[in-house]
Amino acid sequence: MTTKNILVLAGDGIGPEVCKEAEKVLNWLSAKGPVKFNLSHALLGGAAYDKTGTPFPTETLEAAKKADAILLGAVGGPKWESLDYSKRPERGLLGIRKELGLFANLRPAMVFDELAEASTLKREVVAGLDIMIVRELTGDLYFGTPRGVETLPDGTRRGINTMVYTSPEVQRIARVAFDLAKKRGKKLCSVDKANVLETTEMWREEVQKIGDTEYKDIQLSHMYVDNAAMQLVRNPRQFDVMVTGNIFGDILSDCASMLTGSLGMLPSASLGARGKDGKQAALYEPVHGSAPDIAGKNLANPIATILSVAMMLKYSFDMNKEATLVEDAIKHVLGKGIRTGDIMQDGAKKVGTTEMGEAIIAAMETLHKERSKAA
Ligand code: IPM
Ligand code: MG
Repeated sequence: MTTKNILVLAGDGIGPEVCKEAEKVLNWLSAKGPVKFNLSHALLGGAAYDKTGTPFPTETLEAAKKADAILLGAVGGPKWESLDYSKRPERGLLGIRKELGLFANLRPAMVFDELAEASTLKREVVAGLDIMIVRELTGDLYFGTPRGVETLPDGTRRGINTMVYTSPEVQRIARVAFDLAKKRGKKLCSVDKANVLETTEMWREEVQKIGDTEYKDIQLSHMYVDNAAMQLVRNPRQFDVMVTGNIFGDILSDCASMLTGSLGMLPSASLGARGKDGKQAALYEPVHGSAPDIAGKNLANPIATILSVAMMLKYSFDMNKEATLVEDAIKHVLGKGIRTGDIMQDGAKKVGTTEMGEAIIAAMETLHKERSKAA
């Protein structure tokens, strides 16, 4: 029996609640075999700050380095907003991304047919949508230096952040995106602001070079980020894979999430480079935040986190059959009209976080029985 070690970083706000449901899914799969998931927990974000005085304790980094994959809930909340930058929960998240070299952030946006009505956009615009946003995660304005706020001699203040990319950083994220496009619709759109920002002009040239030399079979296009934001809500189905830098990817992926009906539906994977031993650091987390306003009330939608588990099965463990089982179980539950508040529709049955988790497990059980019989 193979054992995989999963580190759970539940974090803050609704993080612990949604992780708990996702853990049930891993435990269920574990019990069925053949892969056993060994779950352990560590602190990150505000929860870590409260206990240890830092949002990213060394023990967490050590545990993260040893894990086969990491499942993260969410970090942050108003409680920690007045802290110094270096102590804020978000630094924990940015720290783990940077320390583990998780440069490739995969954010799929898929519209489940059952939820096409839940989007604020018209059904005919979003039905059948399936796009993949590839966001570079360890560079750009997020990590560039110089940065900070200084007080000038005349008493006024000056804030600085630096948009910086090197060509190898652009090339490696481009390859991840091209590889994904190859397995999907063979279309890649690279998003930049090359008409204004030199960094992204270089980005455009590098992506084009990789396309011309290594991926001739992929249809590559380039789009300015303002236009991309507009096109995402005008006609999102024109896209297959999109690749962009850290800051644009942050913004566009939130925008794309609304096409699917709710931020509560979007999973993500953050991957590092694959080592010679085949190992690849990988962290899976919902795109949504810690939602402190609904935390602890059994109101959060656990689907984004459970879909993140499905991504883990696919990308870290090559367990495609199990990933499909999880995704199909979610569709099954949605098909039965079971909804958390964020995706509630007329005539549907409103449930809480735990009930949604239990319904998904029950559906996995049912589908698993059907599939084992058919096999
Ligand atoms: C995200 C979040 C984070 C980011 C925050 C919480 C630091 O918005 O994962 O998209 O900006 O990357
Ligand atoms: Mg974001």
